[in-house]
Amino acid sequence: MKLQKKVASARGLRGVIRVPGDKSISHRALMLAALAEGTTEIEGFLASADCLHTEKCLSSLGISIKRESALTSMPLPAKAQRGEEKIYVEGQGLGGLQEPQEILDVGNSGTTMRLLSGILAGQSFASFLTGDLSLRKRPMGRVVIPLQKMGARIIGRQGGTLAPLAITGGNLKPMTYQMSVASAQVKSALLLAGLFTPGWTEVLEPTISRNHTELMLEAFGAQVERGESRVRVKGLSELTAQKVVVPGDLSSAAFLLVAGLVVPDSRVIIKSVGLNPTRSGIIDVLKAMGAKLRINEEQEIAGELRGTIEVESSSLAGVSIGGEIVPRLIDELPILAVAGLFARGVTEIRDAGELKVKESNRLTAICEGLTRLGGRVEELPDGLRIQGGASLRGAFCRSFGDHRIAMALAIAALGAEGETVIDDAEAVEVSFPGFWSLLDELRSENRC
Ligand code: S3P
Repeated sequence: MKLQKKVASARGLRGVIRVPGDKSISHRALMLAALAEGTTEIEGFLASADCLHTEKCLSSLGISIKRESALTSMPLPAKAQRGEEKIYVEGQGLGGLQEPQEILDVGNSGTTMRLLSGILAGQSFASFLTGDLSLRKRPMGRVVIPLQKMGARIIGRQGGTLAPLAITGGNLKPMTYQMSVASAQVKSALLLAGLFTPGWTEVLEPTISRNHTELMLEAFGAQVERGESRVRVKGLSELTAQKVVVPGDLSSAAFLLVAGLVVPDSRVIIKSVGLNPTRSGIIDVLKAMGAKLRINEEQEIAGELRGTIEVESSSLAGVSIGGEIVPRLIDELPILAVAGLFARGVTEIRDAGELKVKESNRLTAICEGLTRLGGRVEELPDGLRIQGGASLRGAFCRSFGDHRIAMALAIAALGAEGETVIDDAEAVEVSFPGFWSLLDELRSENRC
């Protein structure tokens, strides 16, 4: 259902909170659990629209997934109501998937589409995959071409570059593949396909992207070798069910961290957030901008670092973002543009052309939204230039149905005079169920 959300300006955000589980890790946990022998328990699973699409696709492939809520008559803890819960996946081993009887619908989820394509390339049966309007515009050639090179038969619209895709796989050959874009989704698709071939499948990256797949493959017992910008997996080695403890999603926390920094008189503490160094570029950038940001209670589980992040209102300075750090903060660029709006001087984002092919064209979308609020923002061919310090006023803003644009604009609206209306605000359910109520919670803590 379409939702228009009204956001008023704020003062004094306060609270100690948790954010829902990491989206990238939740997708991967479901997929590897399905391919493992035995029952995997996933604690802190993100039950958001994207991950629920992965869950549904795996069910169509014959995997049984049970939720803690269905197994107990006890009242659910609040975190489950916020889209997080414990689930159990009955793995069927590498050879255990069944031909789906229906078309697999991935909704808005590029991660589901691309990673699942890798797994389906290893199956001798036929699968058909589609998604929503946004997903059907996103480039799929980047996974289709290398998977075809491994031996999968894949067809799709526009010469196999756009979904829907039809995949019949099996009999794959291992290969070494040099990627031209730094994409964790492409890397992961190839590593997952590599599980179904004898020998080593190796992927070389132009710049290091998030490494959750390789860390989790190791945790499930696969033979993995990792080097600087290269990773390889040995196929046909058995995966064993694990207990996975999903950290909070830093990409979701990012919105509330920036809110805590730019709204005056705020102090926000977010517990148990993922801090994997291949994802934590935003922490480096915020510190370089002068953020009062502290990390403590650090802990590593199955190779994934997590910790508590504390921020307080800070006077930020503009910064230049570009080069190798970009894949480490690719999903945080919309909210970093918002941080730039409240900083002194200019913030420039470069080398971010990939933002044009996300859930929306995020360069255009954020530029339009922040400009409507009175920001001085220029769209560049591969990024944005933001002149900080403008006085903002509430406006009607379009989210383009993109969860991260809706949330970034909501945070910008906290610092605008008057009321802002954000359209298609239900999009936040894709990655952050409970976002609107958590924001209200942070406002109300201050009133007590
Ligand atoms: C993701 C990888 C990134 C990121 C996306 C999630 C993943 O996409 O933007 O939100 O879980 O692997 P790309 O691989 O296209 O860079």
